[in-house]
Amino acid sequence: MDTIVPLNIDGVRKALSGGIVGSAVHYHALLPSTMDEARRLALDGAPDGTVVIAEEQTKGRGRFSRVWVSPPGLNLALSVLLRPEIPQLPYINMAAALAVCDVVHELTDLSASIKWPNDVRIGGRKLSGILVETDMVGRQLNHAVVGIGMNVNLDPSQHPEIAEIATSILAESGREANRSEALRLLLGHLDRYYAEIRGGASLREPWAAKLETLSMTIQVRWGDDVIEGTGESVDEQGNLMVRKADGSSVTVVAGEVTLQV
Ligand code: BTN
Repeated sequence: MDTIVPLNIDGVRKALSGGIVGSAVHYHALLPSTMDEARRLALDGAPDGTVVIAEEQTKGRGRFSRVWVSPPGLNLALSVLLRPEIPQLPYINMAAALAVCDVVHELTDLSASIKWPNDVRIGGRKLSGILVETDMVGRQLNHAVVGIGMNVNLDPSQHPEIAEIATSILAESGREANRSEALRLLLGHLDRYYAEIRGGASLREPWAAKLETLSMTIQVRWGDDVIEGTGESVDEQGNLMVRKADGSSVTVVAGEVTLQV
């Protein structure tokens, strides 16, 4: 196996000083999942903006409890502990997806899009996945953990299980990217969006502008239920309105979208 060039975490810490995101950065060679470590730190009272990053996860997970495949030393796998107000929660997922799109644009000049609710894609292939998990205490939000997996220097063709569906900065630009720079940019953009959210801003508009799911014929699957129609719009909470063939409209709050091309 190739030698892993570790992330320059001190450089990232320095670049982020002063922001909320990156107020503390915990770096691990190996973890079961950064989601669980960030949650453990949250319950231990860690500050808003604490970042947990791992070179390798043994139990990296995605939505619907799927395994998140990310070979060590090639990509970014991190979780950020956030302590927003409840009304700000829907924008956390949007902030993370927009931050990834910004990084892609800065590193490659390419424009990534978002497949509702939170896959960042280029050319129909997934470059990044986002997972938001929250802990409530009664009706109060204790914290949210936003997990981001971003394929940076992955060569998808080397990994048959994701070869057909995944892409990376390397695959799209033909050039290896500096992972430390990608991390610094990602956390910097997330900090900027988080500050906007904390200041009362909505991210619905910029997020909706990046959604490839609108105006497309789609199928949304949630368990055994399947809804077919046209992705029409998204509401302030990020829920998807689907117009069915019979003219009726359904609001989808969760599920997996398949775009029909
Ligand atoms: C998805 O597309 O379903 C979401 C994938 C989220 C993967 C990231 S990698 C860092 C963090 N730790 C995890 O176990 N999952 C998230």
